[in-house]
Amino acid sequence: MSIRTPQTPSRGTAAGSPGRWNRLVGSIVEAALSPHPVDRYLELLDPMLTWRDLRGEIVRAEQPTPRTVRLTIGPTRQWRGHRAGQFVQLSVVIDGVRHTRCFSPANAATGPDGDIELTITANDDGLVSKHLVAHARPGDVVGLSQADGDFVLPETDPTSAVFISGGSGVTPVLSMFRTLVARGYAGPITFVHYARTASEVAYRDELLALASAHPNVDLRVHHTRDDRDGHFTAAHLDDVPGVVDADVFVCGPRALMDAVAEVHGALGISQPLHSEAFTLTPTTAVDPDSVEGELTFSRSGTTATNDGRPILDQAEAAGLTPESGCRMGICFSCTAVKKSGCTRNVLTGETDTESDTQIQLCINAPVGSVDIEL
Ligand code: FES
Repeated sequence: MSIRTPQTPSRGTAAGSPGRWNRLVGSIVEAALSPHPVDRYLELLDPMLTWRDLRGEIVRAEQPTPRTVRLTIGPTRQWRGHRAGQFVQLSVVIDGVRHTRCFSPANAATGPDGDIELTITANDDGLVSKHLVAHARPGDVVGLSQADGDFVLPETDPTSAVFISGGSGVTPVLSMFRTLVARGYAGPITFVHYARTASEVAYRDELLALASAHPNVDLRVHHTRDDRDGHFTAAHLDDVPGVVDADVFVCGPRALMDAVAEVHGALGISQPLHSEAFTLTPTTAVDPDSVEGELTFSRSGTTATNDGRPILDQAEAAGLTPESGCRMGICFSCTAVKKSGCTRNVLTGETDTESDTQIQLCINAPVGSVDIEL
């Protein structure tokens, strides 16, 4: 099983690279201020004054629907910009504990000087999303990562673009859509969006305005609770110009992505499907009666009876606080060493019996007894 090594972002500045001299000075200052990094001292003066950390200040917080908040975030000088479709990790402290989640900027691709627009929908069991919808206010400072992810527009413009999104999956495809429109793309764009009801279409007014201002844009919005034909079918791509040569981008719940993949294959579309899920969807449900073994977290001396869930969930239930972010296998922040035992990747179903290997705790569940260095 191969594991991608977590990337350590290199540090940049709004005024250009700090260069070797600045890095040397920074290292000396950090050593002098040991045991805490220099940013721990600077944040006492101003949390937006940072040497290394990338943070952002919420400059605007709007509530376009009852379940969503749209945040405009001004990042610190380390921000390097984002490609349309990428995600960032946002960290907030809730009840004294720092939590990190992935969100995709909805604004068009920007460089280092751009703000970041995040639209966040409160999930019923989403601690961070519910917190942000209820409490995020202008002036709040959040932690950020550099943008990452390979769900992006291709280097060369597609001959025809089809964007399909469900619920909060709208944000990365909206970023792509806005990027194409902003640079005057003249090919046909079809935007198919699914929301539960009309009142839950977070970008309704802007989508309508863009569609009416650009004759090459065909907007198709479906309401899955209100419309009889609300869920995706092949008919929703009827009359899409040049569909067999189109680049199709889909982001949303697993059921939508599976349905689009099936139709994409059936229509014989020549370009590979571009897709990104935003929820963790296990390949198979685990029968709790068939689960056995014990989970050992050897560094902390903690043990728990395996309940079949991903190791991250079980570690937290056991009172541990391992680092985590997206909780769906994207960001690698939950990576830890498996000392021994067999684990199953809940996304692919693959099992892995290798010892002393790094695994992502959020997408691996124990199969029998497992020892994690945590
Ligand atoms: S929390 Fe992001 S990969 Fe596990």
